Amino acid sequence: MNVTVDASSPVLLFDSGLGGLSVLRAVRQHLPGAPVIYAADFAGMPYGEKTEAQVAARVAGLLGRLAERFHPRLICIACNTASTIALGMVREVLETPIVGTVPAIKPAAAMTQTGTIGLLGTAATIRQAYVDNLEAEFASGKRLLRHAAPELVDAAELKLRGGTPDPAIFERAAQGLLQQPGGADIDVVVLACTHFPLVQEELDKAFGGKVQFVDGAQGIARRIAYLTQGQSFDRQDEDFSIVTGDDQDNPALLESLARYGIGRILRI
Ligand code: DGL
Repeated sequence: MNVTVDASSPVLLFDSGLGGLSVLRAVRQHLPGAPVIYAADFAGMPYGEKTEAQVAARVAGLLGRLAERFHPRLICIACNTASTIALGMVREVLETPIVGTVPAIKPAAAMTQTGTIGLLGTAATIRQAYVDNLEAEFASGKRLLRHAAPELVDAAELKLRGGTPDPAIFERAAQGLLQQPGGADIDVVVLACTHFPLVQEELDKAFGGKVQFVDGAQGIARRIAYLTQGQSFDRQDEDFSIVTGDDQDNPALLESLARYGIGRILRI
């Protein structure tokens, strides 16, 4: 079945903004030859501050348009917020295989020595039943402390546009977990938003170098590699990004995207 896929058909990665680049980094390691389209819904960002209905409508609408226009062989929703809310719904309406992004609670539960895990995500992600279910399935008997850190999304976006985020943002995110009852025991922190690995260094400082971080990027990339096994890849043109909103001419942004192998930005 796989061999019938057009070799130039791209893998499409989708996020509200630049967070999905943390997933793209891992995809490049596993599938260096794969043509990629990186789609960012800048006009809809931040998803984490929206209602479930708003996120679902944007994600389903945009992915439908993108699938029709670019015929991707596979779509990766490289966004925890969008995945935990809309993955099931999008899978129902699109025929393209869809890989989602799941908070890395399972590996965190295997890593923790103290039995206390921290989880940083967006406000929308941390309230999802999806996360409750992962906790019940993989972290029962452990303590999972959650904290919404929407400021980290802006910090990552700023960093990739050449700016320097205020260190107080990372302090607030760390303290949001550490100050909770039992928070001092946290030894593993799940980065449950794809933006957060992009500022992991800054977070590490804020946690005093005392915790390990885990995110889903490598697992997602392995899953994409598995689902595309046996398919051929032929990149006929440079990879590009497609965005909503009006940030496509920002030179600092283009420079950052170039580091991930993305050569130009188009507007949908
Ligand atoms: N990158 C997204 C995630 O993984 C969220 C960013 C946003 O709030 O738009 O959850």
